[in-house]
Amino acid sequence: MDLKGKVAIVTGGNSGIGASIVLELARQGASIAIDYVVNEAATEELEKNVVALGGQVIGIDADVSKIVDLQRLIDTTVKKFGRLDILVNNAGIETRTSVLDTTEAQYDKVLAINLKSAFFGTQIAAKQMIKQGNGGRIINITSVHEDWPMPHNIPYCLSKGGMRMLTRTAALELAKHNILITAVAPGAVATPINTSTMKDPKALQELDAAIPLGRMAEPDEIARVVAFLAGSGASYMTATTVFVDGGLMHQSPGL
Ligand code: BGC
Repeated sequence: MDLKGKVAIVTGGNSGIGASIVLELARQGASIAIDYVVNEAATEELEKNVVALGGQVIGIDADVSKIVDLQRLIDTTVKKFGRLDILVNNAGIETRTSVLDTTEAQYDKVLAINLKSAFFGTQIAAKQMIKQGNGGRIINITSVHEDWPMPHNIPYCLSKGGMRMLTRTAALELAKHNILITAVAPGAVATPINTSTMKDPKALQELDAAIPLGRMAEPDEIARVVAFLAGSGASYMTATTVFVDGGLMHQSPGL
């Protein structure tokens, strides 16, 4: 129960990696605000699971690509639980579009949901944490593609590369307030974002073969690292990324 007494927000918290992060932080004793935009039923189900773990939870319908919604998300959390200690910027989408065919609408949507939300979420959360005076943790869920180009997924790569620099730059600016900012960079994880690959046996086999550990990650294998970064064991970690990719980024073609 390393996070007992702490209050955490997880954006995009009702599915995929986000839902696992919600459960893992709750297991460690944190009170949780689950941010979501679609699928209220999934949020309610997850809330029940948190309560079954003995945790306190609130679901908040907020579109984190909009600053007014982010402000409401953080204000509602503070009103409910009295404070904010941990923000996990997890909400993310991808279009699988290339440099030649990405439209303005696709570009704007991916950058707003993935990067703008993390930037303004960091800004608003940091102001709250500074007001409280006990520091805090901000954890950005990026991807191996914060650093590793993925052809035909360029808006996503731009957004994750931006989150990499957000992590480093904001961490330096906010270190004096004891606000520690890190990123977790998953490789391929069995979540809805990878549904098309998982439904195609050939594509899945090729993906598994490219991963040194031979398989995709389960969402809770990412969530456990996030909980570590939110907790007492990571008190000297800031301005850096932890890659949780089964070796994917360093795969060797076997020459
Ligand atoms: C992307 C997936 C991709 C994985 C590994 C993730 O960040 O969302 O589409 O399969 O990286 O390349």
